[in-house]
Amino acid sequence: MSEKILVTGGTGYIGSHTAVELLNHGFEVVIVDNLSNSSIDVLDGIKKITGIEPAFEKFDLCDRTKVFDLFKKYSISAIIHFAALKAVGESVRIPLDYYHNNFESLINLLLAMQKNPVAGMVFSSSCTVYGQPDELPVTEKAPIKKAASPYGNTKQVSEEIISDAIYAYPSLKAISLRYFNPIGAHKSAHIGELPTGVPLNLVPFVTQTVAGLREKLRVFGDDYNTPDGTAIRDYIYVCDLAKAHVVAVRRLIEEKNKKKFEVFNLGTGKGISVMEIIKNFEEVTGEKVNYEIVGRREGDIEKVWADTTFANNELGWKANTPLKEILLSAWEWEKKVRNNK
Ligand code: NAD
Ligand code: WQD
Repeated sequence: MSEKILVTGGTGYIGSHTAVELLNHGFEVVIVDNLSNSSIDVLDGIKKITGIEPAFEKFDLCDRTKVFDLFKKYSISAIIHFAALKAVGESVRIPLDYYHNNFESLINLLLAMQKNPVAGMVFSSSCTVYGQPDELPVTEKAPIKKAASPYGNTKQVSEEIISDAIYAYPSLKAISLRYFNPIGAHKSAHIGELPTGVPLNLVPFVTQTVAGLREKLRVFGDDYNTPDGTAIRDYIYVCDLAKAHVVAVRRLIEEKNKKKFEVFNLGTGKGISVMEIIKNFEEVTGEKVNYEIVGRREGDIEKVWADTTFANNELGWKANTPLKEILLSAWEWEKKVRNNK
């Protein structure tokens, strides 16, 4: 019998790509999502790619009774916990919603794990926990800096909650994956990123500008201490990221983890500037990106990219999709979404 993986937030951007990878690797998938930031149509996209429609339960993970009932209904082998609110700016405006949603859902899942025979949890963390690191590339051992937003703080404190719970309840174990900047879409263009309203992230803003939804991209700052003056990030293909979750969940199920709580950076190990994103996008798509340079965005850091040695060696995983291919997948997805409207 195949292992059943609970994927919370599985109709969301990274969760849907991970559900596809899990199904392609023979796992059964149970998705829980309250659809607060995703659409039920994503299930069709997953089915078109894999031929399988995963089990789906629509409810809010802050509802403890519903979480406990879920574990009675399904025999869950392991959890991948994506569900969270994730907009940095919004978290500054409504911090209590962020703390309530992101902590309550996590605590309910940890309590359910404690009561049921679950191999462990893979948790979605973020490079945001490092702030502007003192040394680059940034390793998992780098100090955690004071969070720049309530959202970032939920990731830092969530890692602490998991760590404390594991210490207190010896049957629990977990892997925290610190994502750098996930971009792109599945190459079938059946699933991808669907930002609501004006996108905050660079790549969706680029694709929407070229698609004619936005007049121009604003490049936030060209006076950083970087080769072309624009800020640098580590952009990782969402399907490469999804594959790392399959490895991590197997590691927990097969008890290959070396500590009860492990933390891995998931990035490419390569820093890319905003201008390099624009240039590569233009080259691979043949489209022109209308942009203007404006001032720095408040709260932005100058540069960050991952040291991925630990994930490469321990997980035997590496992000290797070329940047141009990733940007093309984002563009193909954008065109598909626009044609369907
Ligand atoms: P997303 O918003 O596309 O997916 C999250 C999903 O969780 C959504 O479908 C939403 O409806 C659901 N959800 C939220 N709260 C819920 C609740 N209480 N109960 C049930 N469902 C709930 O986001 P994503 O980009 O796929 O991110 C997934 C995870 O990865 C999040 O934890 C996010 O913080 C983390 N992360 C994302 C990025 C990024 O740039 N996308 C980077 C680092 C970390
Ligand atoms: C990338 C670069 C911008 C938009 C955010 C969250 C972080 C993590 C990943 C979840 C920056 C520049 C952007 C635009 C621009 N998420 N930019 N014009 O800020 O690295 O990280 O997503 O954990 O927590 O903060 O990603 O895509 O917003 O920006 O010039 O319209 O693109 O200044 O240098 P960021 P991003």
